[in-house]
Amino acid sequence: MSGAEPEVEEARWGELVACAVAAMRGAYAPYSRFLVGAALETDDGRVFDGCNVENSSYPVGICAERVAIGHAVVSGARCFTRLVVASSGSAPASPCGMCRQALAEFGTDLEIRSVTETGEELRWTLDELLPAHFRLDDLVAGARR
Ligand code: THU
Repeated sequence: MSGAEPEVEEARWGELVACAVAAMRGAYAPYSRFLVGAALETDDGRVFDGCNVENSSYPVGICAERVAIGHAVVSGARCFTRLVVASSGSAPASPCGMCRQALAEFGTDLEIRSVTETGEELRWTLDELLPAHFRLDDLVAGARR
């Protein structure tokens, strides 16, 4: 949380939900027909969106969250505060393991909300979703010389 008034915070979450839902409508998911959109907020108030992009060679497909990360990183963003994931199912989708690890690269304080078009919602921090992620220290400690 940024420390702003609760109504201001909720209004900001509402903007992020609208962005994620709009991104979801752009999803390319002809195989699963499961549409996902993401809105990733930076600490300086920018918002980067993403949607899932599937492929006829199934493993080539990429999740909405990692498209949003790439979108943000290419613009120089490295510090993220909130993420909204919107999906087309009847229950809110939990970010997949690969996306959790991808997000954790940039910090685990991230506040996450997952929503459906019908208003269902789940909330977590990234630390709750992935408490013991692989990190740079693990890589350095294990690297052979
Ligand atoms: N998907 C996402 O975009 N994000 C997730 O965190 C979970 C799954 C996408 C990948 C694939 O296009 C579809 O949902 C079904 O797995």
